[in-house]
Amino acid sequence: MRVQLIGLGSIGKNLLKLISEKAPTIGQSLGEKLEVVSVSDTTGTVITDGMPLSRIIQAKEAGGLRTLDSFEKINARSAISDLESDLVVEITQSTKDGRPGIDHILAAFDSGKDVVTANKSVLVSDFDLIGTAKEMKRSLRYEATVCGGLPVFNLMDYCMKPAKIIAVEGIFNATSTFVISQMEEGKSQSFARSEAMRIGIAERDQSDDLAGIDSARKGTILHRRIFGSSLTLKDAAISCREHDIAGGLRQVTEVTSKGVSVKYQEIDGKSIYSSARGPAMLIRFNTDVLNHLTLFTDHDGPTESAATILNDVLLSKAEKVAK
Ligand SMILES: NC(=O)c1ccc[n+]([C@@H]2O[C@H](COP(=O)([O-])OP(=O)(O)OC[C@H]3O[C@@H](n4cnc5c(N)ncnc54)[C@H](OP(=O)(O)O)[C@@H]3O)[C@@H](O)[C@H]2O)c1
Repeated sequence: MRVQLIGLGSIGKNLLKLISEKAPTIGQSLGEKLEVVSVSDTTGTVITDGMPLSRIIQAKEAGGLRTLDSFEKINARSAISDLESDLVVEITQSTKDGRPGIDHILAAFDSGKDVVTANKSVLVSDFDLIGTAKEMKRSLRYEATVCGGLPVFNLMDYCMKPAKIIAVEGIFNATSTFVISQMEEGKSQSFARSEAMRIGIAERDQSDDLAGIDSARKGTILHRRIFGSSLTLKDAAISCREHDIAGGLRQVTEVTSKGVSVKYQEIDGKSIYSSARGPAMLIRFNTDVLNHLTLFTDHDGPTESAATILNDVLLSKAEKVAK
């Protein structure tokens, strides 16, 4: 299976590492080798031609992709259109208008390629991409867009079919929990924010995390999926102010048929959120027949999201075989 990687940030580097480390498991699952044929960032594209993926990570962390012999000044869109592959992993950063992610995904569909993405801004800006994929008989998997390492859509798609989801609530943003937990340990907010960036859990614009935008994006995607609505990010009620962040609070998102809200909420020992510390995340489904179903992780970050993306790549192939 030939895969192209678009975006080599926190998740991209972890994904390449995981693909190297898990090669035997991946081969067993796919029934063939997973070959990363190209890797693109904003500077251009490396055509890997079988080179060890660790060399690409080293180059990215040292002088950049352009230091590799097989680097070409081809932008991601051209790489998708011009190079042969089966699937594109789109993991550029989330933006206000979902671009360039949307353009990359449409270029992949036009070239007959399937897509896996973690880029939530893409679905927030153009949820109809899911329908476009179906019309074009392509696969679009997006498990990592909501709560990174937690299997939110797989749970909904495979384990909750008879259930009606009445509402969803949770801590959808690990950076906010991490920053507040550090402040509860006596660290300053600015130190905690730089730590969040260093360990790769923060969005490139960290205000997206702390001012509730990242959570609202996830809430919007869930609202559209669960209630079939046409809700946009602008409709979400976000009442998070970065300078109000303090110990004892957690950033809580609620998704009901009425809409999406994100706010900092005081928690006490009895709250389901009281065990959320560090880069933790929690999502709780309120349903009719399955009652309150909760997914919790004490650590969500780029490694966990990379594992979810890899799972989506493997599922994409399994889906094709089943057809
Ligand atoms: N980090 C997480 O834990 C997490 C979890 C779930 C979902 N997500 C989502 O996953 C996506 C990736 O996250 P991340 O943390 O890896 O982001 P990141 O560290 O900001 O990396 C983004 C990457 O995209 C590349 N890029 C941007 N514009 C491009 C373009 N036009 N062509 C080619 N490459 C381009 C950047 O290139 P340069 O390196 O050249 O700047 C960079 O390598 C985001 O949409 C984010 O919202 C992140």
